[in-house]
Amino acid sequence: MPPETPAPSVDRITIRKPDDWHLHVRDGAMLKASLPFTARNFGRAIIMPNLLPPVTTVKEAIAYRERIYDALHQALPEGSTFQPMMTCYLHDMTDPDEVEAGFRDGVFTAVKLYPANATTNSAAGVTDYRKIRPVMARMEKIGIPLLMHGEEVDPEVDVFDREAVWIERRLQPWTKDFPGLKFVLEHISSKIAVDYIRSAAPQVGATITPYHLTHNRTDWLGWGNRPYLYCMPVIKTEADRRALVEAATSGDKCFFLGTDSAPHPVERKLAVVGSAGLFNAPVAIEQYTKVFEQAGALNKLEGFTSLNGPLHYGLPANAESITLERSTWTAPEEIKIDGPDGRALVYRGGEQIEWRVADSVG
Ligand code: DOR
Ligand code: ZN
Repeated sequence: MPPETPAPSVDRITIRKPDDWHLHVRDGAMLKASLPFTARNFGRAIIMPNLLPPVTTVKEAIAYRERIYDALHQALPEGSTFQPMMTCYLHDMTDPDEVEAGFRDGVFTAVKLYPANATTNSAAGVTDYRKIRPVMARMEKIGIPLLMHGEEVDPEVDVFDREAVWIERRLQPWTKDFPGLKFVLEHISSKIAVDYIRSAAPQVGATITPYHLTHNRTDWLGWGNRPYLYCMPVIKTEADRRALVEAATSGDKCFFLGTDSAPHPVERKLAVVGSAGLFNAPVAIEQYTKVFEQAGALNKLEGFTSLNGPLHYGLPANAESITLERSTWTAPEEIKIDGPDGRALVYRGGEQIEWRVADSVG
């Protein structure tokens, strides 16, 4: 038998600068501490509006954007080209004129729908889906996308089925009722969602997080309860995880990067009723690269991280690039937060990370 030739291994890869199409940077001290990890490697990010109180008006979004730029300049005084893209938190009483004004003024890039009580800071979300139809009709007319935390919050629906039921009850009918409206089903977590997105593209696209690509529910609950893998939508089965990896690495343009990086103070993560969300920005692009490498699909990485998202939003891809190299480093276990919040633990913190950003140009 001739000796087996190992598959050629790639040790360096240069891709267009990625964008994060789903990011939580919070506010105040947490914003200052968490934002630099994204601003270092990403060109743009869709900023989630689930602050307390939520970002529901153009004025609030402008003020929040200013605070983000202030934090950016403090953290990276040498300058950064990072751009936050703001979103409007949808609720039963959202005024279509407010959405239109924000979109026309270049403040809102998208509108975000949280079903009330689906996840962190969603209590002010939508409770009556009939009431948001006028906003959706206006969004369809002006061309602003609707981003969804797509989970049906109904006590009759099992938490593992929330995404599937949302697709069936809400998203599928809406794509017919509003055929010109672009949707993003965020942080998809199931094979059902993967199959649905393919059938509904290009009207509907989906973001996929690094942790839904990496873990199954046995990792989360099978060897002790690991609160740091608790997020919404919850991590599902191995079959679901594999379907997500296949989707992300397929090259299909309807799937793109959205980290859902969501820092929480340690105390809230470890409370008796813990908060959903993983802070993965410090290792996100590196972790995606590892997933693509393991799938033998590094040639599909750039499409997922840097091209498919802009295409769905009708925006240009970034002109700059980043280079990742195979080089091991240890992820920080936590970040310090000024003030009472103290610290936030990092996803994969303390672990060996296999890829490193060597160079970020622009
Ligand atoms: O796990 C999650 N955390 N899912 C979300 O949808 C919200 C996020 C957060 O804000 O912490
Ligand atoms: Zn989120």
